[in-house]
Amino acid sequence: MDLNETPQYSADGRLLRVGADLQHIAFIMDGNGRWANLMGKPREFGHTEGAKAFERVVEYCGDIGVKYVTVYAFSTENWKRPRAEVEKIMSLLEMYLDKLMEKADKYDLRVRFIGDRTPLSEKLIKKIEKAEALTFYRTRTVNIALNYGGRAEMCAAVNKLIREGKTEITEKDISGALYTAECPDPDLIVRTAGEQRLSNFLLWQGAYSEFYFTDTLWPDFGPEGVEAAVNAYYKRTRRFGGLV
Ligand code: IPE
Ligand code: IPE
Ligand code: MG
Repeated sequence: MDLNETPQYSADGRLLRVGADLQHIAFIMDGNGRWANLMGKPREFGHTEGAKAFERVVEYCGDIGVKYVTVYAFSTENWKRPRAEVEKIMSLLEMYLDKLMEKADKYDLRVRFIGDRTPLSEKLIKKIEKAEALTFYRTRTVNIALNYGGRAEMCAAVNKLIREGKTEITEKDISGALYTAECPDPDLIVRTAGEQRLSNFLLWQGAYSEFYFTDTLWPDFGPEGVEAAVNAYYKRTRRFGGLV
């Protein structure tokens, strides 16, 4: 993939391509329930519309040349929700995984799941494994964080290192043992629906990420929202603790 050094804009100021300094955008897709509430519909309806927003965002990120996209679909804490809601989210994931696979060719997508998949249904695990195997050679990556928690991820990473016989570890060891081992850290983390917290998302990887919060509820989110987030990103000065 050809990455320009700097972002490209059209004559009327619309974002065409991101620059090489924005490789990875992560999204905390929040607000599905509130959106459904506002419509006077059950929360499950919000998740259905939220899945459509996920599709729009993945496509648009492809159009503007973002190499890695990570979406927070279900946290390790989301099991606390009513069973019917959890089941709806899982079945939507299954359905959208099929749709995503149809687009994987066009968008040159590598589909990966991050999180602990052991408690998922056998059917979903099989689908996940198949999607990962069929797309592993592609150049753009979509990470779907499912039963993901940053703390659980770090514990799993440390346990992996212990099993490998390590008695002392480095930052590089931990980074390399996380679910995201093959991805650069997110440059930008976007959260919709007004909440300004991480909710256990990418705790290690987000150490120097830029944050963008919007009140827009996830089902209403799309290309304009991503463009606004990217434009905000390009107004920031990333110092990584140094001086510029
Ligand atoms: C995000 O929307 C989707 C998941 C957490 C699975 P929510 O379901 O959290 O929506 P709100 O925050 O209740 O509005
Ligand atoms: C974070 O949203 C998890 C996902 C978007 C999947 P939540 O809605 O679960 O977060 P809290 O409970 O408001 O912190
Ligand atoms: Mg929420």
